[in-house]
Amino acid sequence: MRQAASRILMLVFIFCLVFSLHYKVRAQSASKPGVADHSWWQHAVFYEIYPRSFADSNNDGVGDLKGITSKLDYLKDLGVDAIWISPCFPSPQIDFGYDVSDYENIDPMYGTLADFDNLAAEARKRGIHIILDFVVNHTSDQHQWFLDSKSSRTSEHRDWYIWRDGKSTGRPPNNWISDFGGSAWQFDPTTNQYYYHYFYPQQPDLNWRNPAVKDAMFDVTRWWYKHGVSGFRLDAVDTLFEDPNLTDNPVLPGKNAFGDPKEANRYNTKLPELHETLRGLRKVADEYNAVLIGETWTADIAELNLYYGQGNNELQLPMDFLFTTVNKLSPADFRKQIAAVDSASGWPTFVISNHDIVRSYDRYGDGQHNDQIAKLMAGLYLTLRGTPIMYYGEEIGMKTTPPTRKEDVKDPIGRTGWPKEKGRDGERTPMQWDETSNAGFSTAKPWLPVPPTAQTHNVADELKDPDSVLSFYKKVLKLRHTNKALLDGSYTALNQNDQNVLSYLRVSKDQAVLVALNMSGAQQKVNFDLSARGFSSAKSLVATGKSEAKGNVVTLEPYGVFIGQLSK
Ligand code: GLC
Repeated sequence: MRQAASRILMLVFIFCLVFSLHYKVRAQSASKPGVADHSWWQHAVFYEIYPRSFADSNNDGVGDLKGITSKLDYLKDLGVDAIWISPCFPSPQIDFGYDVSDYENIDPMYGTLADFDNLAAEARKRGIHIILDFVVNHTSDQHQWFLDSKSSRTSEHRDWYIWRDGKSTGRPPNNWISDFGGSAWQFDPTTNQYYYHYFYPQQPDLNWRNPAVKDAMFDVTRWWYKHGVSGFRLDAVDTLFEDPNLTDNPVLPGKNAFGDPKEANRYNTKLPELHETLRGLRKVADEYNAVLIGETWTADIAELNLYYGQGNNELQLPMDFLFTTVNKLSPADFRKQIAAVDSASGWPTFVISNHDIVRSYDRYGDGQHNDQIAKLMAGLYLTLRGTPIMYYGEEIGMKTTPPTRKEDVKDPIGRTGWPKEKGRDGERTPMQWDETSNAGFSTAKPWLPVPPTAQTHNVADELKDPDSVLSFYKKVLKLRHTNKALLDGSYTALNQNDQNVLSYLRVSKDQAVLVALNMSGAQQKVNFDLSARGFSSAKSLVATGKSEAKGNVVTLEPYGVFIGQLSK
C-alpha cells in the first residue's frame, strides 16, 4: 500500500517536473538567437490587434479569437513576430474589455480557452509570440473581488479596493478627477463609503498596497505564461498607486472636454511605489523569458528611464508616447525625440498609432498625399534602433473614421464628452480585408461601421498592387528582419540642419544603412559624403517611386523614402 502511494507520488513529481520544463523550454526555444546578444523582443516586430475589430469568424458583428487565428498567415507574411491582443477576458464591455471581470478566462464573445490555446499553438508554429493586455490598475465592478468588497466593510476583499469616507455628507474624500469625466470617487450606499476609480465608475482601482492583491495579480501572469503567452502589455501602469493621505491635486486653469476643472495628477499618478510592483512582475516574467511592455505616458526621458528601472530590472519596452506627440512632419522635432530616446537607459520602443489615439494616417497625412506619407512614416519607425509596435490597419493606410452623430457613438467617453471629445471609435473600426460588403470582416453588421475607404484601402487589393502602402510595409519589414545594421546597428543623425529631410545612419560593425526621409511636399536632393566615416555611396535597398542615389547625391521625390546599403 505504502509502496503504491510512494510510486504515485514519484509519478506526480516527474509529471510536474516535465510539465514545468516543457513550458520553460518552449518559451526559450521560441526566441530568436540574438544578433549581438539581443533578446527575442528586441528584434521582433509587434502588432496590436483590437480583437473586436480584426476578424469575425462566427459572423456576429464582433471579431473573435478564431478570426485572429485565421489571419496568422497574413500576419506572418507581413513580417509580424508578436501580436498584442487588447483585452479578450470576460468583461461587461463598459470600456470594451478594459474592465475585466475574470482574469483567467476568455470572454464568450471572443471564444473559449480552447480557442485561445489553439491560437497560441498555431501562432507558435509560425514563430509568432502572443502578448496579452494585462489591466493591472483596476477590475470591472462585476469582478467577484469587487462584488465581495462592496458587500460589507468587513468582507474578505474589502481592502482589495480603495474605500474611504466622504469629507462630509455628499462630498467625496478629495478633489481627484476621473480621466473619463467627473469625480474619481463613487459613493456606494451599501456601506456608506466611496470607492476610487481613475477611469469609469465601473472600473474600481485595485489597492496595490494590499499584498493579497499583489499575489493574486502576479499569479494571473503565471497562469497565462503557462498557457504559452510570451509577455504582457501592462495597461495604465502610471496610475497603480495613490497617495495614502489623499492629498488634493493642484488645480490648473481651464476645464477639460468633460467640463471638469483641469488638474495636475500629482498625487494619483506615477508614484514611486509602482516601481517595486514592476520589479516584481519582471522577476516573474524573467522566469518565462517573457517581455513586459508598458503603457507609459511619460513627460520626458528621465521619467521613461525610471520605467526601465535600475540596471533594466523593470519594463523591457516602456512605450515612448513622446514620439507620438510629434504630430507634424518636422525633421527637427523627430530628430530631437529620436536622439532623446536613443540616449535612454533601455532599448527604445516606437509606436505611431494605437486604439486610444487618432491613427497616424490622419495625424501626419495632409489629405492629399496620405499614402506617400504613410510610407514615409513606415520608413521612419521601422528603421530606427528599437522595437516597433504596429497597430492593425496601419499597414494598409486605414483612416480614422469618427462617428458624425452622437447617437452613433459607442465609446462612453465620446458620449459624455461630445462634441469636444468624440471618443475612440474612429480608430477602432473593422479591419479592411477586401472590397466585399463589410470589408470581409464579417457577414453581419459590424459593431462599428466600415469606413468608406475600405473600397480603396484593403488587404486584397493592396497585396496585388506593388505600389500600395501594404507592399511598402512588407518590403521594409522584410529588410528589417534580414539586415544586420537595421536589426542592431547604432543610430547616428546626419545633416542635422536640414529642415526637409530627416536622415540617419544605422551602423553595425562594417555594415551600414543610410535612411533618408523627405518630410516635404517638394523634391529634395541631398548630398551625403560619408567617405570621412569610411563609407562609399549608397546602393538602394528600398525606395519609393523615383527616389534614388547617384554618387553621393540622393534624390527624393515629395515625401519620398530612400533606404540604401553602404559598404566600407
Ligand atoms: C488604457 C487603455 C484604454 C482604456 C484605459 C482604461 O489607457 O489603453 O483603452 O480605456 O486604459 O483601462
